[in-house]
Amino acid sequence: MTYIEIMNDDLRFDPDGPVLLVGGYGVVGAELARLAAPSWPLLLTGRTPAGGASLAEETGAGIRRWDLSDPAPFSAAVRAVVGVVNDPDDRVLRAAVRAGIPYADVTRWTARLQRAATVAATLRPAAPVLLSSSWMGGVGALVAATLATRIGGADTVEIAVRWDLRDRAGADSVEFMDRLGLEYEIVEAGRRRLIMPLTDARTVMIGSSRTRVARIDTPEQFTLPITLGVGTAATRIGFSSPALTSALLAVKRSGFFRWGRGERWTPLRRSLLYSAGEGGEARLRIDVTGPAGTRTATVTDPRGQAHLTAVGALMALRRILGADGAAPPEGVVFPEATPRPLDVPGFLESAGVAVAEEAGPAARRAA
Ligand SMILES: NC(=O)c1ccc[n+]([C@@H]2O[C@H](COP(=O)([O-])OP(=O)(O)OC[C@H]3O[C@@H](n4cnc5c(N)ncnc54)[C@H](OP(=O)(O)O)[C@@H]3O)[C@@H](O)[C@H]2O)c1
Repeated sequence: MTYIEIMNDDLRFDPDGPVLLVGGYGVVGAELARLAAPSWPLLLTGRTPAGGASLAEETGAGIRRWDLSDPAPFSAAVRAVVGVVNDPDDRVLRAAVRAGIPYADVTRWTARLQRAATVAATLRPAAPVLLSSSWMGGVGALVAATLATRIGGADTVEIAVRWDLRDRAGADSVEFMDRLGLEYEIVEAGRRRLIMPLTDARTVMIGSSRTRVARIDTPEQFTLPITLGVGTAATRIGFSSPALTSALLAVKRSGFFRWGRGERWTPLRRSLLYSAGEGGEARLRIDVTGPAGTRTATVTDPRGQAHLTAVGALMALRRILGADGAAPPEGVVFPEATPRPLDVPGFLESAGVAVAEEAGPAARRAA
């Protein structure tokens, strides 16, 4: 799609209009629609709106076709936009920023988030642009920021994710997995270096589960050093099946993610990690070390990763609409950088997400 075609979309700001959820009847979008429907009118879009008809009926939302790969211009008057489907050309972002519409997004991996921040800053946004794509729609980063306030700041943030193989995930989540063969930049003890995903493995207790986790490229490892001044930011992921985690680390050591990057290997590459189940639990552990010691939180959502991501997206939507009692943020922001009168653990608990907080040594290792 050309830049000229992208420029033809006509979003307009209407403070009384619906909240536009782009990709709003997908796995994450549907959870967000249900969470947001009691508070705002909604407009859901996707390529085949018939697939979202029952959700639209359930939530009272409008539903329309907007295929982001189709240059046909889209036009609507809305009060806010939330991106819950990949926006590879920043088409939705540009249309929202041009029109001065509050915008939030949970879909961008780090390189795309960096580009989006640059695009948005260049367009000099008049309304907030909240790039909330870090782990679980910003939940990990928000909890890290909360823990940092308890111990006078954050030198180190370590996030360990336990991915439940029974959990649900949509097709649009799969693209992210193609990045396992690409180095990315991290900050460690204040120094930058490149690292490969699925390296730097360790075993941690995530709640009561001993889990082998290894590095993965997520946006908070880029944003936390900027927003909170963190010297070390590390996010790792492991799977509910130790056998799968071991197999994946072995595949990584074989070099497959590097030499198997071509299109020919795409189905195999994606099948290694993508196993959309019927439903599972989302769990992550956040360790923050600062001047006054270490604090740990374990966040557990029995309704799974899509629900937890939607809760993160809901918090982002509330922030950009000023629904938390504070003025909306200005310009381009990341979730943990927005001023928070919001009690993050309290909000999560109210959404059915358990937050167990404790003081203690950093990343208590099980082995
Ligand atoms: N930040 C985080 O922690 C986090 C966590 C989970 C997911 N995510 C991200 O959230 C996004 C959604 O994930 P998901 O599991 O909900 O995926 P999904 O179930 O596949 O949902 C995608 C939605 O977008 C629509 N869609 C797909 N391609 C489109 C296109 N080209 N133009 C317009 N609409 C399109 C789909 O409907 P049609 O098929 O009818 O078009 C569907 O409604 C992904 O980008 C994923 O990476 C982020």
